[in-house]
Amino acid sequence: MPRAAPPPKDLLSLRDIAPAIPALLRRAAQLKAARRRGIVRATLPGANLGLIFEKPSTRTRTSFEVAIHDLGGHAIYMSPKDLQLGRGETIADTARVLSRYLDAIAYRAFRHADEVELARWTTIPVINALDDLEHPCQVVADLLTMSERWRGRFRGRRLAWIGDGDNVLHSLLLGAAAVGLDLTAATPAKYAPRPEIVLAAQELARSSGATIASTTDPTEAARGADALYTDVWVSMGEEAEQAAREAAFQGYQINAGLLATAAKDAFVLHDLPARRGQEITDEVLDGPRSAAWDEAENRLHAQKAILEYLLLPRWRGGRRRSR
Ligand code: CP
Repeated sequence: MPRAAPPPKDLLSLRDIAPAIPALLRRAAQLKAARRRGIVRATLPGANLGLIFEKPSTRTRTSFEVAIHDLGGHAIYMSPKDLQLGRGETIADTARVLSRYLDAIAYRAFRHADEVELARWTTIPVINALDDLEHPCQVVADLLTMSERWRGRFRGRRLAWIGDGDNVLHSLLLGAAAVGLDLTAATPAKYAPRPEIVLAAQELARSSGATIASTTDPTEAARGADALYTDVWVSMGEEAEQAAREAAFQGYQINAGLLATAAKDAFVLHDLPARRGQEITDEVLDGPRSAAWDEAENRLHAQKAILEYLLLPRWRGGRRRSR
């Protein structure tokens, strides 16, 4: 039997883990079922995970902290203002030092280029915990949530994205294309996803058979879809564009009317936090077809599967291999 390919050093883009997604989803589902039975196994005893977060976080930070704790390790939260990084120490120097203490770093950055720079200089895995280009860990949890509802089968299902062509959509395009899920993204023309990401998704879709499509019409995307997904109109760091964005996204709301055009059993995803009354109504987010709360829970199980995937090959006999 062919051996599974070794994991990449870092998870900066969903593309880095595309071939491993089915195995990651199976492992996350196993870990979820076990935790619900009260079973948590310390598969990474003593692992130290650094969390460098340039922006606030509820889900990503907490799920990583609980995940590494469940796996037998320890998390250290570091805001850049508490690090010398905030006083001008370079990313390269920070990376070289932290590599001597930690076993992995989850990094939430304003700029994708800084993720790449940190990964370039570390000897330990760097995990993208959201930046301006992608949010890959979110999308592993999203795929887990869809997989649960579709009994593990993505082929023949269609997901509609309604709203901003942002970092979450970028990772989702790559994730959907990797697993064979059809995705239609409805965004205003000015806020379409980056062409290079769409091209990369289309390239992945050639192997999986997924259809990756785009439109500016939310109803066209939602009609007959098996799931609808949206995100805030104004992401962290875009506050200066608030008025222009709120004007541009009028009509890109998941509400009862739009949901009625989707498949009868369609459900709704939102990565949260939500701006209720903007991209989604209370009625939908709190309603019986909302998968957002399962999706948020699944961040925890997905993070554990990701940490094991990246760290276990470097972790033998309960000890880190020498660097
Ligand atoms: N979805 C998400 O990344 O949430 P946080 O910003 O709370 O981490």
